[in-house]
Amino acid sequence: MNRKAKEGYDFQVKLLMLGDSAVGKSSLITRFCEDTTTSNHIPTIGVDFKYKTIDCEGTKIKLQIWDTAGQEKFRSIVQTYYKGAMGIVLTYAINDRKSFQNIENWMKQISTNAAKGIVVILVGNKADLLERVVETSEGKRVAETHNIKFFESSAKDGENVDMIFHELAKEIKTRILSDPSMNEEERQVIRIGDKLPEQQGAGAQASGGCKC
Ligand code: GTP
Repeated sequence: MNRKAKEGYDFQVKLLMLGDSAVGKSSLITRFCEDTTTSNHIPTIGVDFKYKTIDCEGTKIKLQIWDTAGQEKFRSIVQTYYKGAMGIVLTYAINDRKSFQNIENWMKQISTNAAKGIVVILVGNKADLLERVVETSEGKRVAETHNIKFFESSAKDGENVDMIFHELAKEIKTRILSDPSMNEEERQVIRIGDKLPEQQGAGAQASGGCKC
């Protein structure tokens, strides 16, 4: 029995969390994979990843979610982790205008570094906070400009967190199964995604503890 069959999934997909420091990328992953969060900001050093397998309309998709460091000093390391990624959760915080303004810079980096056809979802996190400085309509507008989906979320209370990852997985699944422009070699990258952490080389701290 091969590894995929043994572990019970059909596809493994690599996702990247991007966005400025302290917008809640690690917290979103922890909420999604472990249904908890911490109130501390412990900046991610380089990259880290966790797994979660979900059922996406009858297809078991193992999500390998790479948490990247938002701090500027790690930018060049983070760029090397775009390889093999099929989806990106691009996050800002609704109480931090600078993180929202930086979304345009992140979109430029994505178009420079990511594979053609990568699925991006824009997320305005910390929606539980009353100190809002970025209106929902502003997030929607930016998402429309880039033709990507948009959600507001709260890693703190869980609002829309599952939805974000399920929507991303659904759209990726649609592309994998139905995109005629994707050749077999490209599909193989997704199917053999198990090998990606090792391929990425030194620097990855593989937590991988959440095989839900
Ligand atoms: P870097 O690793 O530096 O890139 O940061 P990050 O984007 O991973 O941020 P992190 O998840 O560490 O969260 C930063 C701070 O924001 C922490 O104190 C979290 O508790 C807090 N936080 C994250 N998400 C939310 C949220 O949805 N609501 C509220 N109120 N606080 C949040």
